[in-house]
Amino acid sequence: MSTDNLLTVSDFSVVYDVDPPVEAVRDVTFTLRRGEILGLAGESGCGKTTLAYGLQRLLRPPAVITAGSAVFHDEGGADIDLNALTEREMRQFRWDKASMVFQGAMNALNPVMAVGRQIDDILSTHRPGMGRGERRAQAAELLDLVGVGRDRLRSYPHELSGGMRQRVMIAMALALTPQLMIMDEPTTALDVLVQREILRQISDLREQFGFSVIFITHDLPLLLEISDRIAVMREGRIVELDTAENIYHHARHEYTRRLLGSFPSLTGERGGFVRGAHDDDGAVAVAGGTI
Ligand SMILES: Nc1ncnc2c1ncn2[C@@H]1O[C@H](COP(=O)(O)OP(=O)(O)OP(=O)(O)O)[C@@H](O)[C@H]1O
Ligand SMILES: [Mg+2]
Repeated sequence: MSTDNLLTVSDFSVVYDVDPPVEAVRDVTFTLRRGEILGLAGESGCGKTTLAYGLQRLLRPPAVITAGSAVFHDEGGADIDLNALTEREMRQFRWDKASMVFQGAMNALNPVMAVGRQIDDILSTHRPGMGRGERRAQAAELLDLVGVGRDRLRSYPHELSGGMRQRVMIAMALALTPQLMIMDEPTTALDVLVQREILRQISDLREQFGFSVIFITHDLPLLLEISDRIAVMREGRIVELDTAENIYHHARHEYTRRLLGSFPSLTGERGGFVRGAHDDDGAVAVAGGTI
C-alpha cells in the first residue's frame, strides 16, 4: 500500500452564524494518507460532524466555511480543491470519490423503498453506462460483501435489524468504490458484538479496496483498536494527532489523557493492544484477534 496523501486539510474553519456565533471548527490542519484509517475523537459538541460536513461541503446556513482549504489528491494524479468545485461537480464527487456514512445512518434509509433499489439508485445516477442486469448483480454483490446477503435485496428497511441497516448504509457508501469513506458514529447505536463485527468488515474491505477512512466517534478505546492514527478534537481544534500507539501510551495532551482516563476499560485488564497493524506486504495482522 502506498503511503502518499489522499487529502490535505489546511486551516479549515467553520462558523455557525448565529447570535452569538459558534466557532465550531477552528484552524483544522491535517493530512490523510492513502489507505489510512484516521480516527477522529472528542466529546460531544467539539465539532466532529461539522468538520465532516464541511469537508463534503454538506453544510447549510447558518454554517459558513470561513477559512481554509481541503485538497483531494485523486488517484488519477489530479489535485481537486474541494472549495473550488461547483455544486454539480461536488455532487459527482460525493459517493464517487468520497462517500459518507452519516451519524444516525441506520434511520437514513428510505423507509418505502427496498434496499436493493436504493443501491440501484446510486448506481444508475452515477454510472449511467451500467445496464440494469449489471446494476442488479452489483447490488447483490455489495449486500454479500457487507454480510447482509443478497437474499435481502427486496427487503424494506423496517424488515432489517439495526446492524443490517447499518451495513446496508456501508454497502451504499462502498457502491462506487470511493477513495475515501467518512464514517460519523456509524456503529454507536449497536451492541458491542455487532459493532465489532462491522468494524472488522470495514477493516477487511479497506484492505481489499485500499480506500482511506475518517472514522468519527467519541469512543476512544474503539478508535485505538481500528485506527492507524487518531486526531483528538476539542472545542473545534485538533489538539493532538498521532499514531494510535502513541496516543495510547504517550498521549502528550492533558485533555487526551483525561479522555483516555474516562474509559474504565482502558484502566482495567485488557488483552493487550488489539489494533490491526500493517505488515510488510500490506496485509492486516490483528494482534489479539478481536477486530
Ligand atoms: N445548526 C447549528 N446552529 C448553531 N450551532 C450549531 C449548529 N449545528 C451545530 N452547532 C454547534 O456546533 C458545535 C459542534 O457541533 P457538532 O455537531 O459538529 O459536534 P460533534 O462533535 O459532532 O458532537 P456529537 O459527538 O454530539 O455528535 C456545537 O457547539 C453545536 O452546538
Ligand atoms: Mg456529531
